[in-house]
Amino acid sequence: MTADFQSKDFQSKTGARVERLPLARFTTLGVGGEAEVWFVSDHEQLAEAMAAPYRILGGGSNLVISDEGVPERVIRLSGPLAERDLTPDPGLSGSGGDGIVTGWVGGGVPLPGLVRALQKLGYSNLEGTVGIPAQVGGAVWMNAGTRYGEMFDGLHTLEIATPEGLKVITPDDLGWGYRDSGIPRNHIVTRVRLKLQRSTPEEVLAKMTLADTARKGQPKMKTPGCAFKNPGGVGAGRLIDEAGLKGTQVGNALIAPEHANFIVNLGGATAADVHALLDLIRARVNVPLELEYELWPDDALRQGAPASAVTQWSAELK
Ligand code: FAD
Ligand code: EPU
Repeated sequence: MTADFQSKDFQSKTGARVERLPLARFTTLGVGGEAEVWFVSDHEQLAEAMAAPYRILGGGSNLVISDEGVPERVIRLSGPLAERDLTPDPGLSGSGGDGIVTGWVGGGVPLPGLVRALQKLGYSNLEGTVGIPAQVGGAVWMNAGTRYGEMFDGLHTLEIATPEGLKVITPDDLGWGYRDSGIPRNHIVTRVRLKLQRSTPEEVLAKMTLADTARKGQPKMKTPGCAFKNPGGVGAGRLIDEAGLKGTQVGNALIAPEHANFIVNLGGATAADVHALLDLIRARVNVPLELEYELWPDDALRQGAPASAVTQWSAELK
């Protein structure tokens, strides 16, 4: 956040609230400069917001945003697009069976609260996603999950805003997989209907506890979660650990001593600190690693760490 930050709020033609804000406050890493944030609460406002270059921000739990912020509009779903209707839809749920299809759940709904609510209702299918600090839209876009389950286990219908208009699709229309929904970048998941199984609160809680226990070793500090996807079979965390990089610090960013695939903010970290660690990991781990973090604004920041610097950090840390 800059010291001379001044809010320049206005209301758009369709009534969206627009504020110039530091994005750090929206990210779990706590890093990110300013941008024009559009809080949109209906489809009309969304269409107006999408009429100029934009990005969509969810829970900010997978983002490393430049300290300079981003030049595009940053859209955040709010109001009815951040509300949930978990009532079984009588037309879609069938009669007598265990299967339930819910009403619409907004893309801006926080996932942790949704998972807790489903547990209380005794509705199963999404309990494996417990502990993921995302919004529904972001979690769907990434197909966030754990080895106990992922978002696409519980999706019936998706409503997606695209530059060509609003589309209603099903998971079968997408080529989804591990940490990937197949939804093109900047197509916005506005709402989904969930496909759930009737169970009991106790049974759902038992499954949630298993998934929760699996993340006990993860760091509790500010972080965007795992930095790299697991390359088939072997964990990226294990590879980074075996490369001896746990506890490596650049500036105020640290490769977590608890789990080597997490980068944490010790307080006052910059995006460049995180980039340096990512580049160092890639230089030191022999297996090609695919980034899970998303870097805003993408390539511009990647240019910040020339290969020569990586070689130098690598040598210094040996
Ligand atoms: P953001 O970080 O805000 O954005 C990520 C991407 O999604 C961006 O491209 C953004 O544009 C896009 N996006 C956001 N909202 C929408 C929308 N409505 N429509 C379309 N695109 C959208 N992930 C896992 O998979 N499993 C885990 O176990 C896990 N554990 C984590 C633990 C911690 C402590 C943290 C901090 C993160 C963890 N993550 C995990 C990573 C992260 O939560 C997921 O990647 C999640 O899917 C990000 O969702 P988000 O709403 O925060 O999206
Ligand atoms: N390991 C190490 N050293 C480390 C970290 C892990 O040796 O520093 C070893 C562990 O001992 C274990 C293996 O690697 O034998 C796997 O570790 P872990 O159980 O922590 O799971 P993971 O594969 O590292 C995955 C997801 C997490 C998810 C957990 C729990 C990925 C990239 N990571 O971690 O998701 O929470 O399983 O299900 O798929 C995320 O995607 O952001 C994320 C946090």
